Amino acid sequence: MITADNTALPLSSYLKEQTTSTHESLDRRIMALAPFSNRERFACFLRMQLRLHYATAPLYQNPELQAMLPGLAERNRLDAVQRDCADFNLSEQQQEEDRLAGTSIKPANAEEAIGWLYTHEGSTLGAAFLLKYAKDQLGLSESFGARHLAGHTEGRGLHWRQFKQALDDLDLTPQARSAAVEGARAAFAFVRASVEELMADNQPAAAV
Ligand code: HEM
Repeated sequence: MITADNTALPLSSYLKEQTTSTHESLDRRIMALAPFSNRERFACFLRMQLRLHYATAPLYQNPELQAMLPGLAERNRLDAVQRDCADFNLSEQQQEEDRLAGTSIKPANAEEAIGWLYTHEGSTLGAAFLLKYAKDQLGLSESFGARHLAGHTEGRGLHWRQFKQALDDLDLTPQARSAAVEGARAAFAFVRASVEELMADNQPAAAV
């Protein structure tokens, strides 16, 4: 529930508070679908990630958002996930389906877009664990199949704290903060729907 006065917390903490239970449920659901049990299942996880990266890529490129969040453009990892998909020989048809699903996303305003970016950037923290599973259980790496899960050269923690600081430096009205929460929740909902469609249906996927 979003209350009328939501300004008590820094924006990054507020976004976290408003999405924590959604994140926990998503995290449990993804792990229950065993993406690291074999490469076919990981390929389904990869397609979910491809959809999310297509959904947010235009936001990382958006000049208005770049002016609000320093260094935004270089955080875009669409290229890395596309290369992972190439490593896995995902079919052109599958990748086109995922491109269409992702690019259908159009946040209504800059604040909703900021919420989407919070959700996507935050996912780079959990990615540390996912990368370890991908390496240990599937033999993938930052240069094959799991490029998009790689940490930033400066370190994941620092890179994330810099992003959170940029969020907290924004001067947003209560309405704009509510819109950011809506965007963050919409991003989680989009990922959850993609998980159910791509990972839960047990569809055949490419494997390498
Ligand atoms: C099985 C999959 C996942 C696992 C195991 C996982 C795990 C984690 C963990 C452990 C953290 C906290 C790391 C830390 O504080 O150092 C985290 C943070 C976060 N994750 Fe996930 N995650 C998963 C998937 C996702 C996905 C798919 C998304 C959204 C696309 C996501 C969004 C976030 C966000 C936004 C945060 C930052 C929360 C904050 O501190 O504000 N996660 N994740």
